[in-house]
Amino acid sequence: MTTVIDGKAVAASVIETVKSATQTLETETGVRAGLAVVIVGDDPASHAYVSAKSRMAKECGFLSVQHTLPGETSQEELAALVAELNADPSIHGILVQLPLPKHLQSEPIIQSILPEKDVDGLHVVNAGKVATGDLDGGLVSCTPAGAMVFVRRTHGGDLSGLNAVVIGRSNLFGKPMSALLLAANATVTTAHSRTKDLAAVCRNADILVAAVGRPEMVKADWVKPGALVIDVGINRVAAPERGEGRTKLVGDVAFEECAKVASVITPVPGGVGPMTIAMLMANTIIAAYRKAGQNPPKF
Ligand code: GUN
Repeated sequence: MTTVIDGKAVAASVIETVKSATQTLETETGVRAGLAVVIVGDDPASHAYVSAKSRMAKECGFLSVQHTLPGETSQEELAALVAELNADPSIHGILVQLPLPKHLQSEPIIQSILPEKDVDGLHVVNAGKVATGDLDGGLVSCTPAGAMVFVRRTHGGDLSGLNAVVIGRSNLFGKPMSALLLAANATVTTAHSRTKDLAAVCRNADILVAAVGRPEMVKADWVKPGALVIDVGINRVAAPERGEGRTKLVGDVAFEECAKVASVITPVPGGVGPMTIAMLMANTIIAAYRKAGQNPPKF
């Protein structure tokens, strides 16, 4: 029997841990965790994500602050807001929603966030800590951190002897995901669009993680029987079977056929997606515990 991971349920259990850790921190130290989310412009999809993040932060018991800046905000104005949030002791986590409007450079903004408040895990200090295996010192970016929760719940914390293949080499996902799997003792291959015979490489994977942005690219004969398959892709495709002009979300994995070969698989939607916000909350409470000189909870 194949297990289809219920990402919503796993995310809910992470959120429960965050909520109780938030209460404990406030009771024992008087510190309330604070998350600031910054959005520039009026892209509706970004606003939907940001509202969900702010709402979840409130539900966790955090001080939840949202800064909505007009589309014509200058680089200097945005930098000044980040500097203000860096200096604000009530704020433990800062997230600047991406993408920024075209006239703004995101990289200097992201790199200006204090690493200890970089709950997105995008600062080079945090990326470097992940790359060097210093997982208890920095903040891990949310999507790979969420995918690793699934890996740990399937295989435990020690992946010795297991082959892992990550398809995708982005700084946002592929590289940190490979580093996290390696830190857990897996034998890791980072595959990408230039990899020779990708199907054969993937068939070797006990843990196969797909993050390529190509709808349903991973087929059943790419999957090793009994593998854990984690689908990080979110692709909107035409769905004429649902009516004219209708669309649906699919992952990078051809779910129905791969589910017959895998032993554990994540669906799209409802797999990795819900974990991203949950891990943002996890990073915020971790940052708040550290700032208060306390041992943070583990996820
Ligand atoms: N836009 C889409 N996903 C993300 C994310 O994880 N972090 C930020 N900052 N922006 C995003």
